[in-house]
Parts: sequence; C-alpha cells; structure tokens
Amino acid sequence: MIIALNGSPRPNGNTAAMLRAALEGAASTGAETKLIQLYPLKGKGCVSCFSCKRKGGKLGHCALKDDFSPVLDMMEQADALLFGSPIYYYTLTPEMLALIHRFLFSHMLYNKEKRWVFPRVIPSAFIYTFGVKENAADELLARFSFIHNSMGNMLGRPAELLYSADAWQFSDYSLYEADRFDEAEKRRHLEEVFPLDKQKAFELGIRLAKAKN
Ligand SMILES: Cc1cc2nc3c(=O)[nH]c(=O)nc-3n(C[C@H](O)[C@H](O)[C@H](O)COP(=O)(O)O)c2cc1C
Repeated sequence: MIIALNGSPRPNGNTAAMLRAALEGAASTGAETKLIQLYPLKGKGCVSCFSCKRKGGKLGHCALKDDFSPVLDMMEQADALLFGSPIYYYTLTPEMLALIHRFLFSHMLYNKEKRWVFPRVIPSAFIYTFGVKENAADELLARFSFIHNSMGNMLGRPAELLYSADAWQFSDYSLYEADRFDEAEKRRHLEEVFPLDKQKAFELGIRLAKAKN
C-alpha cells in the first residue's frame, strides 16, 4: 500500500490535487493506494515521553494514543510514503509536523551505531505547494532539509522532493483583500503550469510504486 498524507486543511486544495495525481501514477502500475487527510483527525505531536526508546520496551512504537495512532500503524506497514503539505509561514503545517515528529522521533535511538529502528527500506517523497514564485523555492525547501534527510536515513533511501510554486489560493480573487496578486497571471499559472506540476506528481507516483521492492 502506498500511503499519501495530506497536511492541508483543504481536502481538495492544491496539495490534495498533487497527492491525488501521484497516487494515480502509482495506481497506474497496479499499486494499492490510500490518501489520508490529517486535518479531520485529532492528533498531537510528540509529548517527549521516551517510551519509544525505553530499554526492554517497544522500540520504534509511539505510545501516545490518539487519532494519529492508527495512521502511524499504517505508515509502519506501508510500501511507500508520500508527505504532502502546503507551506505555512515558511514551514510545513502544524498537523503535518506533529505527525512527522512522532514518526521520526519514535524510530530514532540516541545510540552511536544503531540510530533508526524502522524495519524495512521503503521509498518516500515530500510534495509541497506554496504561494511564492518558483525562483524562491530552493531557499524555502532548504529550511527543512533536516526533516527530508532524517526521513531518508530512517527509511533507508533518500526522500524525493517535488513542489508546485505560485499556487492558486482563492476560489474568487475579487472577494479578498489581496491586490498584490495579479489574478490573470495566477489563472494563467493555474491553467498552464499546475497541470505540468500534477504530471510531475503522476510520474513521481510511478517511481515510488516501482521502487517499493
Ligand atoms: C496560514 C497560511 C500561511 C501561508 N504561508 C505561506 C508561506 O510562508 N509561503 C508561501 O509561499 N505560501 C504560504 N501560504 C500559501 C499556501 O502555501 C498555498 O496557498 C498552498 O498552495 C495551499 O495549499 P492547499 O491548497 O493544499 O491548502 C500560506 C497560506 C496560509 C493559509
């Protein structure tokens, strides 16, 4: 099963569209797929209980029980993981960060040699959507390279990155105080560039599905 996690509050927004395209790509190879929306769930971030690192305990298991627990269980069994988030204030959304912190921290040991306890090697990818233009993207994504690198180290292979910049934000720009945006330019981007970004997501989904063994 290839699992995509949507860290946007908008279940049918830009991030969901990119994730759905990636899952369609994966499904086109015959892979089973599932999209999980995080915002309807009541899940906290790591509470620093350290159960996951206790000698003689269940290493790699997050002991906190809430709506993220079954999601973490599914992630443990997944053939590939796809993390999708809009950028909020130059980082991932709080819900996505909460889930990622629990997933990463529960599988990380403070040992010198054995650092990670994830049982298998699986592919993963991060898909981001955001409002700034493409030319600011590299600097933006470099801010959370620690998360990408940690995920790659934990899952045994480097995580892929994909983004869609200059996102379409409002259903109708005339209703909002937002005159620094040029609606016609945004619409052109939505109609001409966003489909190309979704095509890249589709191809990413195919790569993830093919890489899973
Ligand atoms: C609270 C909030 C903060 C945002 N902060 C940023 C930001 O720092 N940089 C940026 O480029 N876009 C920012 N945006 C724009 C969103 O990242 C962009 O519209 C995104 O595509 C929304 O994804 P969605 O349609 O999946 O919800 C922000 C949007 C919101 C609602």
